[in-house]
Amino acid sequence: MSDNRSLVSIANLSREKILYLMEMAREFENHPNRKILDGHIVATLFFEPSTRTRLSFETAANRLGARVIGFTDPKVTSSTKGETLKDTIMMVSNYSDVIVMRHYLEGAALYASELTHTPIVNAGDGAHQHPSQTLLDLYTILQTQGTLDNLNLYLVGDLKYGRTVHSLIMAMRHFNPTFHFIAPRELAMPEEYKQYCHEHDIRFVEHEDFNEDVIAGADILYMTRVQRERFSDLMEYERVKDIYILRREMLTRAKSNLRILHPLPRVNEIAQDVDDTPYAYYFQQAANGLFAREAIICDVLGITLDEVRNDKTILF
Ligand code: CP
Repeated sequence: MSDNRSLVSIANLSREKILYLMEMAREFENHPNRKILDGHIVATLFFEPSTRTRLSFETAANRLGARVIGFTDPKVTSSTKGETLKDTIMMVSNYSDVIVMRHYLEGAALYASELTHTPIVNAGDGAHQHPSQTLLDLYTILQTQGTLDNLNLYLVGDLKYGRTVHSLIMAMRHFNPTFHFIAPRELAMPEEYKQYCHEHDIRFVEHEDFNEDVIAGADILYMTRVQRERFSDLMEYERVKDIYILRREMLTRAKSNLRILHPLPRVNEIAQDVDDTPYAYYFQQAANGLFAREAIICDVLGITLDEVRNDKTILF
């Protein structure tokens, strides 16, 4: 169905639309508790595990006065009896106004959006995209750097399977970034995303070394987890899982405006003693998920920035 307002891919968003959603998220940061979604139902269908994405979407819905239905584990649903994704989406769209879904298959959210008029929000589809994470990442970058333009972004770790870094590259195409891709050969940025950079005149440099000299020019250091669940060969996972660990002493040459982001969860890739440096920003980044997702839910429901600004349902 092409007439709904689903958020399936970050690639569809213009610079203006991204900045508009940033403005809306800022309104929600100022006043997160309202009744603007009173009477609405948000469904959260998580076919893969999640802590932040699901809980922040559900918190966003609850803080705006909507009610939430859904599941956190497909084992408790009729998909275990053989019900297809198509039939599941058709059923849930009868019960809800927005469907937030995470699925292990690339393209699952797009497929769902073609089945129903109910807006679909892609909360992660395999190794493909994670657009709501990207919007909160952009909000955090804007918050910490004062701009999205002309920044040096260093992406580190699992660039092969990392859907958050794939979405971030696409979103940043509007803002003249310079990327540094830091990954072992086994987890290097896939050719299709490097091709995307070429097609959109995005500068990038690839590194295999990860040390204080390599990261000294970063405005944003975006760390990622090596994702065990995406490997078919666990021996290969064991070989690369601890290949890059950011340690406090690696930050001695960091720029003063550097902020370290991570979509989380982290495993070993950021040492605990980095947490209390002025550069660590990943917990604030996760907190921003609430405001970005309040904006996303409102936007897919057709609620405008003006309506949010003039909203009379603010509680506190
Ligand atoms: N960043 C992120 O997607 O976290 P969760 O897997 O916990 O939702």
